[in-house]
Amino acid sequence: MTEQTHEGVGGPVPETMDNAQLVVVGTGFRAIGDLTVEARACLEQADKVLCLIGDPLVTRHIGALNASVETLDVHYAVGKPRSASYEDMVEHILSEVRRDQFVCVALYGHPGVFAYPGHEAIRRARLEGIAARMLPACSAEDWLFADLGLDPGERGCQSFEATDFLIRHRVFDPTGLLILWQVGVIGMMDRDPGYDARPGVTILADALVASYGSDHPVTVYEASPYVTAEPRMTTVPLAKLPDTPLSAASTLVVPPLPPRPVDRELLGRLAARR
Ligand SMILES: C[S@@+](CC[C@H](N)C(=O)[O-])C[C@H]1O[C@@H](n2cnc3c(N)ncnc32)[C@H](O)[C@@H]1O
Repeated sequence: MTEQTHEGVGGPVPETMDNAQLVVVGTGFRAIGDLTVEARACLEQADKVLCLIGDPLVTRHIGALNASVETLDVHYAVGKPRSASYEDMVEHILSEVRRDQFVCVALYGHPGVFAYPGHEAIRRARLEGIAARMLPACSAEDWLFADLGLDPGERGCQSFEATDFLIRHRVFDPTGLLILWQVGVIGMMDRDPGYDARPGVTILADALVASYGSDHPVTVYEASPYVTAEPRMTTVPLAKLPDTPLSAASTLVVPPLPPRPVDRELLGRLAARR
């Protein structure tokens, strides 16, 4: 297939790349239960498994499916920019694929939702002529819709990364559902286990108050990884958000304001039959 000239982690790569393949799978949130049959088969059959999971139970389960498993979190370091960690993860993944192996990468949640390394590894592998694909899985947002009883189709749904939402003054519609990711690490650009998100959350709350008012209820949501534990769903008025404990796993849900009135003239034109 594709002749390669790269240097892999284990030395020079093979002359031919007949076996090289990359599949990026998600493990969802429910420990083990969210793993699809297809993702499990890939994990079992891969020559090399790399993972970035967080939950040690799931990592152990993957190790039982395939003893080759190695974790990508070695690329995180205190003070190292997150972008540099992701870059190292992508190159680690590619170095294994370039050794003419079937590599399966397992990321928690949906592997392509707010998750750079999987998409980028696939993009670069394809540029090198290597077959690469992603299998979807349940994201935090999927669990959120189920646990909070929300249907994104009812009022529309907007998802933003919390820091990006603030610093780019993102234009949004407060009469639709608003979901803000990574709110518990807002403003954090590197790995900092003791990070204090409160100053950033205060700025975020002030920005949201301008559109919703200080009494508007918001929910801090954390999906539960275990059947036996309830998800966290803490609802507070916006003014109290800075005093509400958050973690790296928190997602903020801002329910919509009342809908705008319907444009009757436009509705009439849409409904008109010739
Ligand atoms: C790097 S993103 C990863 C998202 C993940 N790929 C997914 O499919 O949901 C991390 C963010 O996902 C959300 N998240 C992670 N774990 C969560 C959980 N247990 N419950 C709710 N949201 C979660 C939070 O917004 C967190 O800051």
